This record gives sequence, structure tokens and C-alpha cells, in this order.
Amino acid sequence: MRICLIFSGWVLSPQWVSNNMFVCKDCGFKSLTLQGKCPYCGAWNTFVQSAEDVKDVAKKSGKYQRSVKISEVTEMKEERVFTGITEIDRVFGGGIVKGSVLLLAGAPGIGKSTLLLQIASSVKKVLYITGEESAAQIKIRSQRIAKGLDVQLLSTRDIVEAIHEAARIRPALVILDSVQSFKNSNGSAAASPSAIKEITSAIVEYAKTTNTAFILSGHITKEGILQGPKVIEHMVDGVFYLEESPVHGYRLLYSTKNRFGNTNELAVFHMTGRGLETVDDPSAFFLSGRADSPGSVAVCSYQGSSPFIAEIQALINITSFQYPRRQVTGLELNRAYLIIAILERYVGLKLSTCDVFLNVAGGIRISETGSDLAAAAAIISSYRKKPMPNDIVFTGEIGLGGEVRGVSRLEERIRKAEGLGFKAIAVPRAGVKYRGKKIKVIDIGHIKQLEDLLVNKGSRPDPSSSVHCDGIGG
Ligand SMILES: Nc1ncnc2c1ncn2[C@@H]1O[C@H](COP(=O)(O)OP(=O)(O)OP(=O)(O)O)[C@@H](O)[C@H]1O
Ligand SMILES: [Mg+2]
Repeated sequence: MRICLIFSGWVLSPQWVSNNMFVCKDCGFKSLTLQGKCPYCGAWNTFVQSAEDVKDVAKKSGKYQRSVKISEVTEMKEERVFTGITEIDRVFGGGIVKGSVLLLAGAPGIGKSTLLLQIASSVKKVLYITGEESAAQIKIRSQRIAKGLDVQLLSTRDIVEAIHEAARIRPALVILDSVQSFKNSNGSAAASPSAIKEITSAIVEYAKTTNTAFILSGHITKEGILQGPKVIEHMVDGVFYLEESPVHGYRLLYSTKNRFGNTNELAVFHMTGRGLETVDDPSAFFLSGRADSPGSVAVCSYQGSSPFIAEIQALINITSFQYPRRQVTGLELNRAYLIIAILERYVGLKLSTCDVFLNVAGGIRISETGSDLAAAAAIISSYRKKPMPNDIVFTGEIGLGGEVRGVSRLEERIRKAEGLGFKAIAVPRAGVKYRGKKIKVIDIGHIKQLEDLLVNKGSRPDPSSSVHCDGIGG
């Protein structure tokens, strides 16, 4: 049976369609003519001539490149450009790999251009292309944060002009601030999804063919996601976010994607008149101001390549709604649901009648399951209204049976807690050889044991009553 496409009164055979049509790159809508605006998705300048149909490929051969044996591929040393700022190099995975394209995303005014200028001041042969500010404005900022800055500056919004200049001077690093401010040569509006996609694609291609490192800055929306199509996060080699911490307004730089290094690396900076200054011991900063109150527990988790100690807070209140609320900030919501269910079953907490609020202090996010034990300890502590000792830190994953499971690099975690002066660390029972010199290692096999750690545990109320939540008395 012959399948035909009916379009604007025309009846077309599929064979004719494949080679003579124009396709919208955003939604795939096909048209006989080149159109400015897609009638289906409304995007502008997204029509391209239809590529050769895959089914025709088998008939032709010879004009495509051939595969090679991996042993015949010429080896290339992974060369890196170092920013000279230790914490930034660490988050980037040990400098910026030549030929890679990194994206630095952040809210307006968070300090992206400041950070980029500081990076520019430490690298030799940088081309700084700005689509947002004039060269004179960059100079004013450089006098404040990077005196004696030696970079090539170009203020343009035309990506073709930008790439031509990069090709002319062949810098070691190109900084492009910001990807949303550039327009394509075909005049598509800056910041439109198709323009952002095309610009990123052109930069990636140029970077790979000339082995030039790029850092692009990008704006994020009010919802905290990158402005533009999600696909650009797939196109680049690394995605880094600069965010403001609710504590003291510190800036947090962390990676969510890195093809050449660990993800979840975190660096903490302080915004000063001289630019962003590194906070040397972020764990101490996140623990500062910690109250010795029920629901506050120290957690040792891994952020990228380093152990990291932060504070998890829980607040349990008897609910005044029909359904109890679960509000979780900084931890995985689904993980919190699991921990709540396990605590109900194995510790006897009546959490189905309580609102549960969980928060990681300082605005950081912990995505690893090694934070389970601390989250459970914080919930128990708030529910029982008894603090956990301030000098114990918790690490461990919780299984569905309430058993506490092993975590990676436990020894490093113990050493980190020891270095920060904690007196004890609660860890999974499953074997750790290093027992600490100045720290007591407490083995926890099951979450039931957590209750034994509560301060004044002997005076706690009867767990079978449902009125042990804060604000109820008890
Ligand atoms: N003279 C100054 N002294 C101290 N801090 C300053 C000074 N000028 C600017 N800042 C800080 O720098 C921040 C702006 O930094 P920057 O321009 O690098 O942000 P950005 O993320 O690039 O913003 P945009 O999205 O608008 O490009 C301000 O919010 C402020 O905190
Ligand atoms: Mg800026």
C-alpha cells in the first residue's frame, strides 16, 4: 500500500518528501516552502532543508567516512587550561580540558561575569567576548577585581564575528558572556531557543575542531532552570551552577555535569569588593551557628571528590490539615518519603499524623544516599524533642528493612569528621578498618539504635502516643 502525505492540497509520495522539503528543527513540522515562522510551534527561523532520509542511505555508499580500529586512532594528551584558582579548578575536574565547552549558569547578578573575569586574569591568552557589557564596563570591573588584567576584549552580539575573532587570534581560552545575548548570522532573535541551540552547536563544533577551551555563561530563570532549550546542557561538556547560599549570601559553585571530572563538586565563595574569595573550609562554614536543639544533626556526605559535613534539620509538628505535609529542601524528596515510612514501621513514630519539614542548612543539596542516617536521626530527634549530641556526625544509607548499609569512602569521611573536631561518628556496622584516633566510631546496624543516642533518652515520652510532636507538649 502506498502511503501519501496530504499537505495544502498536494499529494506527495514519501520519496519526494524526503529530499525536497523543509523541516522545523524544533518540532519536526514539514513544509514545501521555506518559512520564517513555524505554523505549528510558532518558532522563528527554524526551517532547514530536509536531510537525506535514512532509508535512502543503504542505496548509496562511498561518500561517507569509514570507521577505524580504536588501536589506529591517534592518541591525544588530555591537556588542561588551569584557572589558577584552586577551588574552581577542582570543581572543573582539575582545570579545563582543551577543546571542551563549559557552561556557567546562574541567576542575574549572582556574580558570573565577576567569576569569569577572575578566571580570565589567571589564564594566559584569553579572548573575553561580551554580549552584555561594553569593553569599557569590563575595564571598570577589572580595575576593581583583576588589576593588570591582560586579555583581548571583544564586545559583540554576533556569534559569527565572535568565532572569526577566536579563529584569528587562537586563544587558549574563550569566554563568552552570555550565550543568551548572542544572535545568529541569520538574524534570529537573541535568547530564542533556536538561536541558543544553534550558537551552542557552532561553538561546540569550533571548540572541537580547533582544540580551544570555552566557558559560556548562561542565565537561569526564576524557576532555577537554564533559560533556553534543555538540549544545550547535553551539547556542552560541563554544566556548573553559581548560586547564592541563604547563609551570609555566600556563593556556591557546583557541577551537575562534567565529561572530564566528578559531578557534585562544590566550592564556596564570599562576594567581596575585590571579587569572589574562596571560603577555605566550607564544612566549618555550614556548621557555624548550629543550634544545640532537637532536630539538628550533622551529616557527612560526599560532594564530588571530597567529604563534606553539613547540618540537616528536621521539624515535626502535628498536622492541622487533612493530609500531613512533607516539605524537603536540599535532600531527595522520594528518599525522604522512604525514610519516613521506615521510621513509622521500625521505630514506631506516628508520622502519618505529623507534618515533616526537612532542610539542609546553608542551601546546599545532598543527592547521595549516605545522608539517610542523618535525616532519620534528625526526624527522631525532633519527634522525641530530644537533641542528638552536637558532637556526633552521621553517615550511612538506610535499607527498606531499617538496616544501615555501607557507604563509599567511609574512612575518608571518618578522617574528615575527626579533622573538624567531632567526638563521634555514627557509621554503618558493615566493616570499617579505620577506627579513628581522636574520634569514637559508633557502629549502627539498624535505625532502632538511633534512639539510644538521644540526649536524656531516659526521660523521653512513650512512643505509642501520637502527641509527641513539637508544639503539642509532652
Ligand atoms: N563595587 C562592588 N563591591 C562589591 N560587590 C560588588 C560591587 N559591584 C558589584 N558587586 C557584586 O557583584 C554582583 C554582580 O556581579 P556580576 O555582574 O558578575 O553578576 P552577573 O551574574 O554577571 O550578572 P548579570 O546576570 O547581570 O550579568 C552584584 O550583585 C554585587 O554582589
Ligand atoms: Mg554578567
